[in-house]
Amino acid sequence: MNSELGSGFKLAMRRLTSTVTILTCRLNGQRYGMTATAVTSVCSDPPSLLVCVNRSASFHAPMAEATHFCVNLLKVGQQHISSAFGGSKKGEEKFSEGVWLTSDEGIPYLADAQANIICTSSNSFSFGTHTIFIGQVENIMLAPEVSPLLYQDGGFAKAFSLSAGA
Ligand SMILES: Cc1cc2nc3c(=O)[nH]c(=O)nc-3n(C[C@H](O)[C@H](O)[C@H](O)COP(=O)(O)O)c2cc1C
Repeated sequence: MNSELGSGFKLAMRRLTSTVTILTCRLNGQRYGMTATAVTSVCSDPPSLLVCVNRSASFHAPMAEATHFCVNLLKVGQQHISSAFGGSKKGEEKFSEGVWLTSDEGIPYLADAQANIICTSSNSFSFGTHTIFIGQVENIMLAPEVSPLLYQDGGFAKAFSLSAGA
């Protein structure tokens, strides 16, 4: 790839605003997690989503073996959790930020996230440096508030409504 295209792509992606999530799974009794914005709805029949995980991340190996994973959607004020799971902390120490509970499936989930989406890992594909995992949604927990922690242009942001009367 020529370097101009590569840097242009990175600059364009900085303008693709996304909700920050924490992906979590459990393997052999051990909890694993990673901050991710590469999360997309696939379809609603069956309810499914995809996540893109770099093979160099410590989360990749357990994610590739785990039968289930959870997508925890962060809210404004949870930037410290994003940082912990984005590389500033390692291993089990990541879970010292936030209140983490265990789902019926045994998956760690963040107690006060905007939403927790528990999936079975149903398929995966390699592309470039990443693996794309498809999750079939099994269970959802929703908090009352809609207050997404956004990531854009290399930093955190929050959304405001453009609807009439807002
Ligand atoms: C806001 C944000 C979004 C990120 N999104 C992704 C992503 O979608 N996929 C990915 O593989 N890494 C993503 N990362 C990087 C991983 O979180 C990071 O490489 C990983 O947590 C490093 O953990 P480790 O040191 O335990 O391997 C993101 C990081 C941040 C801060």
